Amino acid sequence: MLIVANWKAYVEDIKKAKSLVATSKKLARTTDVSVVLAPPSPLLGILAEKNKSKVAFSAQDVSVTTGGAQTGEATAQAYAAAGATYAIIGHSERRAKGDTNELISQKLAHAIAHGLTPILCIGEQERDGEGRYLSVVREEITLAIESLMPKERAKVIIAYEPLWAIGKTAAEAITSADLGEMVLYIRKVLAELLPGKSSGHSLVLYGGSVEPGNIRPLAGSSGVDGFLVGHASVDPAAFSLIVKNLI
Ligand code: PGA
Repeated sequence: MLIVANWKAYVEDIKKAKSLVATSKKLARTTDVSVVLAPPSPLLGILAEKNKSKVAFSAQDVSVTTGGAQTGEATAQAYAAAGATYAIIGHSERRAKGDTNELISQKLAHAIAHGLTPILCIGEQERDGEGRYLSVVREEITLAIESLMPKERAKVIIAYEPLWAIGKTAAEAITSADLGEMVLYIRKVLAELLPGKSSGHSLVLYGGSVEPGNIRPLAGSSGVDGFLVGHASVDPAAFSLIVKNLI
């Protein structure tokens, strides 16, 4: 199982960041769960320097630019140099600030070009009775990865994060049955876009109010390969419980 801790902008000081890293390193050492931490970018540079532990680091986004006279931008190459090996791309909080499917597709290409494993966030705003949310999910995946070469498409991790489930509590997150259906649907879409049987190796994660109270049922029968955890990932006790409940 893969757990990605999306710290968003919750962590703003190095002391707290270092203590969360220490907790995660211990979890990674004592369990077989793979832990990826996505700190705010200035902190990532400090935390990931010379990292040799089992914990990996992720950018929360990468710039659409490849560098040059672009004040304020943080490129995929700079993240890779800082020690990141993953990059979250297309998070709904970035889409809300203007990331279109086209920009997201370019960001994926930059991430891959610099050796970062992209974690592509997709997910519908709301669930309707007619299944239109399925087309939203299909479209977001297709537009993001269709311009990549087939072997690049296979590198993309999909994080299904329905907007209606983000930033709530376990009780308001998705049910295991609904998640199971969506995971199957995402795998079907990937099978249409990836060569041969390679989509069978693609990782599909879930994110949206993952907490200690719902991780077990969600992991149990849904077929997901892991989780993207937001608010609960910056609470060391909750994060430890999430990882331990997966074992
Ligand atoms: P949440 O955030 O766990 O706080 O719902 C998840 C995410 O937005 O990645």
